[in-house]
Amino acid sequence: MNTKAGIVGVGSYVPKNIISNFDLEKIMDTSDEWIKTRTGIRERRIVDENEATSDLATKAALNAIKDANLTPEDIDLIIVATITPDMIFPSTACLVQANIKATKAACFDLEAACSGFIYGITVAKQFIESDAYKHVLVIGAEALSRILDYEDRSTAILFGDGAGAVVMGPVSEGGVLSTSLGSDGNGKDYLNIPAGGSKTPASEDSIKNRLHFIKMAGNDVFKFAVRIMQDASVECIESANLEIQDIDYLIPHQANIRIIEASAKRLKLSMDKVYVNLDKYGNMSAASIPVALDEAYREGKIKKGDNIVLVGFGGGLTWGASVVRWSI
Ligand code: COA
Repeated sequence: MNTKAGIVGVGSYVPKNIISNFDLEKIMDTSDEWIKTRTGIRERRIVDENEATSDLATKAALNAIKDANLTPEDIDLIIVATITPDMIFPSTACLVQANIKATKAACFDLEAACSGFIYGITVAKQFIESDAYKHVLVIGAEALSRILDYEDRSTAILFGDGAGAVVMGPVSEGGVLSTSLGSDGNGKDYLNIPAGGSKTPASEDSIKNRLHFIKMAGNDVFKFAVRIMQDASVECIESANLEIQDIDYLIPHQANIRIIEASAKRLKLSMDKVYVNLDKYGNMSAASIPVALDEAYREGKIKKGDNIVLVGFGGGLTWGASVVRWSI
């Protein structure tokens, strides 16, 4: 019989420090009212000075491994999806491996911005279904506060820090029914950090010009997001041989409540089937979907046998969606 990959454990971790919209009002020209009505965000979590992405990822990973009733020694591969690695290299996945003592695991980071977690589970599915590996840990983890320009009110209000993780392995029922990924490198200027790579290494000028922070064309990203959330969801629902009526729950990337509501409307899915926690955390990029998945599961919103759509979009541009029939 062919091996089928599914999610066998899920966990998350967010840092303790809370930054509310009112806190942001004190340091930039914005208001709680503007942020709430334009984005749905009320507050976000921020790492403290001694925390980095690998610390958040480590805690989320241990929670997911425990949830799967496994030990770190059972993990064959660790994939960390992130745009805020602790360092350029070694990979954050290697740092997590050392922290959790997953001595048998191969490790790498995956960079697909906010779509990173969907890309990660797609890669894990291939390894498991080809019988190359049994248990793959997929983590989405970000310390975005480290790359935010607190002098740019159009981006600084949107993002937060956190980590979510799943353990994937062979399942006898359900599993990852389909995934659909896409990219459009022509959109590279919509969302990026211009400096710090090989094109524009760190220099006095790059720092003076604030080029190590996130830059975003908000309106362009907004229009792209609404269209692609619908298209990617429809594509993966069709390739799972399902219809929209068969979908029990949607876990979208948590960028903006207006994007989520517009996408749900286009999909003809009522908002009581859509998980939203961006009011508490803002956009955590690759961490948004796995943190939302963990919280929805703990709140009893998804049950064994449910068909769940995970869908995200982000810098690159990239996008991805997956239908998962819940197996735990
Ligand atoms: N506080 C108060 N006013 C703000 C503000 C803030 N934090 N940020 C922008 N504004 C102002 C603008 O300067 C503009 O003023 P003007 O009309 O005097 O020029 C006005 O608000 C409207 O700006 P606009 O950019 O048109 O707002 P918007 O309704 O499009 O909302 C975003 C802006 C960023 C919230 C929205 O475009 C968005 O969510 N885009 C998608 C971003 C995203 O999801 N990125 C991550 C992808 S993974």
